[in-house]
Amino acid sequence: MRTSIPLALLFTAGLLAGAAAAQEKGNADAAKMQNPVAPSTESIAAGKEAYDRNCRFCHSADGTGGPPKDAGFPEASNLVDETWDYGSTDGEIYTVIRKGTPPEFAMEPWDDRLDETETWNLVNYLRALAKGAK
Ligand code: HEC
Repeated sequence: MRTSIPLALLFTAGLLAGAAAAQEKGNADAAKMQNPVAPSTESIAAGKEAYDRNCRFCHSADGTGGPPKDAGFPEASNLVDETWDYGSTDGEIYTVIRKGTPPEFAMEPWDDRLDETETWNLVNYLRALAKGAK
């Protein structure tokens, strides 16, 4: 039994290190952003329109993602599950959509094609889509 305590400690330390590493891709500044657009029916409808036009091709109509559209790129993320590689807050999701995922940018930046309100509408739509998926 004497070894079980250090082992348990090591295991806990490992879990903590793993959790810290998993959060590393999140964006602390972006996480502080408040979504200024209420998730109204209008916002969600506008988000759906923008999603179907710009995002569905890769992330699929139901948001579950899919195989990469270009060789060497990762699979397009599932946007309706609990896993967020780049952070789960509205602000982090907003920032990924606007700025893409450096350094490879397998997810491109959209800030040259979508204005800020359109981007928040997309965040609101993704939340609605995820609720519907449960
Ligand atoms: C050309 C294909 C493609 C298009 C179009 C595209 N994405 Fe992506 N998206 C990806 C890929 C690939 C990833 C994973 C990127 C990575 O891991 O570096 C991703 C990642 C994301 C993430 C991060 C998910 C997470 O787990 O943190 C979000 C959010 C996202 N996309 C939203 C959108 C939205 C909204 C649109 C439409 C404006 C869009 N994407 C258009 C391919 C695409």
